[in-house]
Parts: sequence; C-alpha cells; structure tokens
Amino acid sequence: MAEILRLSPKSPPPPARLPRHVAIIMDGNGRWAEERGLPRVAGHRAGAETVDRITTACRELGIGYLTLYAFSEQNWARPPEEVGALMQLLLDYVQKERAQILDNNIRLSTIGETDRLPLFVRGPLRELMDKSAANTGMVLTLALSYGGREEIVRAARRLAERALRGELTPGEIDADTFASGLFTAGMPDPDLLIRTSGEERVSNFLLWQVAYTELFFSPVRWPDFDREHLLRALSHYEARERRFGLTSSQLTAGAAGGPDAAKVSARPC
Ligand code: FPP
Repeated sequence: MAEILRLSPKSPPPPARLPRHVAIIMDGNGRWAEERGLPRVAGHRAGAETVDRITTACRELGIGYLTLYAFSEQNWARPPEEVGALMQLLLDYVQKERAQILDNNIRLSTIGETDRLPLFVRGPLRELMDKSAANTGMVLTLALSYGGREEIVRAARRLAERALRGELTPGEIDADTFASGLFTAGMPDPDLLIRTSGEERVSNFLLWQVAYTELFFSPVRWPDFDREHLLRALSHYEARERRFGLTSSQLTAGAAGGPDAAKVSARPC
C-alpha cells in the first residue's frame, strides 16, 4: 500500500528534492491519434495542449528548467504535410502562449539548428524569446531542429576552428570547454529525463548532457500525460540515489563534492 501511495503521489516532493532541470521526450502523439482514428496531426495538436499543461505544472512546482524535444533534426524527413503542420502548430503555440509565458515570468529559449525553421515561425519565436529574455521564474527550452550528435559535431568543429586560429591548444580542451560549445552552454545538465509512450531510448536527445541524468519512462502517450503523471515521475526521481561515480557510503559521508562529482555540472538535489 505504501508503495502504491508513493507511486501515485497527490503532492510533489519537497522543493529540495525536486529536479532543477527536467527534460522531456514528448512521444506518442501519432499513436494517440491513430488509436482514435484521427489524423496524426490531431495527436500533435493535443500534444501542444499537454505542453501548456506540463509547463504550467513545472512552473508552479518551482522547476528551474524545462526542456522539451519538440522537433528533431531527423523529423525533417517526415512527410511534408506533417512537417508543415508541426511548423504551423509551433506558430500557434507562440501566439497562443505568449501572455502565459510573459505573465508567469518564464524565459523562452531554443536549442537546435533553428535557422532551418521557416521564417514565419522563426520571427515570432525570436520576438518572444527576446521579450522574455529577462524573466527569472523558469527557463522553458524548446529543442527545435535539434540532434544530439549534430550538436556534438558542431561543438567539435568550433573547437577545431579555434585551435586552428591559435586561440587554444588541444591540451586545453576539457569537458567544460567542450560543453561551452554546445547549444546548452550555461544551462545545468538535466537531472531527470522523461520519455512518454513506452519507448525506452534517448533518440539523439541531449546525448552529452544526460551523462548523469536519471531516466524515467512512462507508458502514457504524450497527449494524455498530465500533472499526476508528472508527479509520479518526480516521486520516482526523489527515491533515486544519485552517486555521480561515487559510492553510496561516500555520499552519506558528505563527499558528494569529491573529485569525480566535481567533473559533472549537475548536482544531486
Ligand atoms: C513525437 O510523437 C512527437 C513529435 C515528433 C513532435 C512533438 C510536438 C508536439 C508535442 C506539439 C508541438 C510542440 C509545441 C512545442 C507546440 P510521434 O509523432 O513520433 O508519435 P508516434 O511515435 O506515436 O508516431
């Protein structure tokens, strides 16, 4: 019974036990629609409503960073009608959620090759990002035209170019220098990565950044994912022991800031 209660929490973990950064692979829109005899785009539309619901919940809970995998580099290869519909949904989202984002002190940002987005999306998106840039309540990051491997290659290329210009030597390249060339430079690594819809893989999302991230896989399709499901994921996170390469007894002895742990940017909450 206690286990059931723990897995179906009505209240969130205490603030000190919440992840600082939650990343989500929003999967299952297409299957949600197909199961209802609807076109795939109906699933994406319902998924956009979940984005709103989960953003609100995370903001209320005091999560500092929420990063959503909204469109991968590989998604460009989907049928053109689906890509077009997703771009239109993004525009609708920016227009519809504008007040919500600004009123709730949320900073909107993006990661990915956003230059590839059509201008009709890029313009309003850029405008809202600029308008919300000084907000401090939560950072909402949309991964758009994003791929983890592509991001790593881009960072490596930038370092190589700097080395060629004589700005740094190969020996000066360490994990911090490398991370500073990623789209996520300046952000903490995710503490918790949630993937919905039952698939258990990371699909080219934040490959570098998830080195010490706790993973949570939910069977629920993204359009059906709600605050209760989020609380369940947070409850599982709260129960995990994050060791960052240390032993359990080292952690209890207060050595979490030891040499291995010092190498990772995320910290256990
Ligand atoms: C994966 O489901 C989801 C996507 C590729 C797109 C995610 C987009 C949204 C949630 C809506 C638009 C986003 C914003 C921020 C407004 P899938 O299509 O791969 O589902 P399937 O695996 O069941 O086919």
